[in-house]
Parts: sequence; C-alpha cells; structure tokens
Amino acid sequence: MPDFEYFWLRNKIYFMDIVFASNNPHKVREIKSILGNSFTLLSLKDINIEEDIPENEPLIEGNALSKAQYVNNATGLNVFADDTGLEVESLNGLPGVHSARFAGADKDSSANIEKLLSMLNGKENRKARFRTVIALIFEKKEYLFEGIVTGTIINEKRGGEGFGYDPVFIPDGKTLTFAEMELSEKNSISHRAKAFEKLRDFLYRYSLSDNKEKR
Ligand code: IMP
Repeated sequence: MPDFEYFWLRNKIYFMDIVFASNNPHKVREIKSILGNSFTLLSLKDINIEEDIPENEPLIEGNALSKAQYVNNATGLNVFADDTGLEVESLNGLPGVHSARFAGADKDSSANIEKLLSMLNGKENRKARFRTVIALIFEKKEYLFEGIVTGTIINEKRGGEGFGYDPVFIPDGKTLTFAEMELSEKNSISHRAKAFEKLRDFLYRYSLSDNKEKR
C-alpha cells in the first residue's frame, strides 16, 4: 500500500470518536494502554452520563450488550461496553455474571475473595478462567468479542496491584498472581486485553474495507 494511503487511513482511524461505556478508572487505564492513541476514547463522564447503567442480565453477553445499547439509545454514538466474570470450574461457573456483587451489593473485592475462598475450601479443583465479552455498537450494527484467560485460584491473597480477584488468580504458565504483575505484563495476557485486541483489529479492518467500498 502506498505510504500516502496508509497515512490517510491511520488518520481516519485516529480521529474516530468512540465511547467506552465505563467510568472505572482501572479499566480506562488498561484499555488506553491496549488501544494506544489510535482512537479518541470517550468515557461516560466525557458524555455526561452520570447514572449507573443497569446490569441485570443473566449472562455476561447480555450485560455488555445492554450497557452499549443504553448509551447508543441515549446518544446515537458508536459505543462499546464490556462485562467480565470469573468462572470457577468446581463451582459450576460461579461467580460468573455475579462476580462484582458476589458477596453483596457494595461490590467489596475483599469480601468477594473471602466468599470465593471459603466456597473453594477443601476442593482440589482450583481451575478458573476470566472471561470478558465486549459488545460494540458501530454504525448501527452490533458485534461481540470474547477474551479468555485460564488459570488457578490460590488459597490466600498475594500482591497489591490490579483489582477484583487479581490477588488470588495465577494465569496458566505463570507463577505470579495478576496482582503481583506489572500492568503491562497483565495486559499482555489478560482476558480483557484479548477481547480488546479483537475489537481493535475489527476497527482497523472495518476502516480498511470501508475505504475499499468507496473506491
Ligand atoms: P466488570 O464487568 O469488568 O465490571 O467485572 C465484574 C467483576 O469481575 C469486577 O467487579 C471484578 O470483581 C471482576 N473482574 C473483572 N475483571 C477483573 C480483572 O481483570 N481482575 C480481577 N477481577 C476482575
């Protein structure tokens, strides 16, 4: 591809506004480091949506989609939303879609971990996975992207980085918990990173094919 055309496409993508339906500063930081400067990312605060968007669906996919639809209906903007669950094999996928409020409505991470560890007490199978689903509404069409990282739940908390269940989750092939890793290391393998890389690749590809159609 000639340099000029490549430059034009890069700029076209660069100036694309897209809303990330989240006000969680940890996530916004993570996502910015994955998407880089290729997109103008707007948070809910940037578009003056202050209320908590309902997350009452029984599946992770449904929650992600309903959040994206809420923002798209309110603003008409291109938007993506994510939802994540920790799925533990010996607990039949719990806490899953209930991960944030596993131990109660106040989304207390320490209480969630305590509840998880007590439910796993005495169980040999500690296999778990984080699963992220991103719902994108782009030019009025809906898309889903999934990212999974498999690992093990340990018996006690280790590390001070990250959030949520990070202190008790060791990804397969690693010795550190997510909470003991630098953000960059977590981002190179995490569920959310995988899902967001799929989103990023989709947006790049879309931009290229969009350009071909116009020629
Ligand atoms: P959310 O859908 O990203 O808000 O995630 C729901 C819940 O899953 C969070 O409140 C956390 O408890 C947990 N969670 C999501 N992502 C992560 C992560 O990367 N590490 C640890 N816990 C996470």
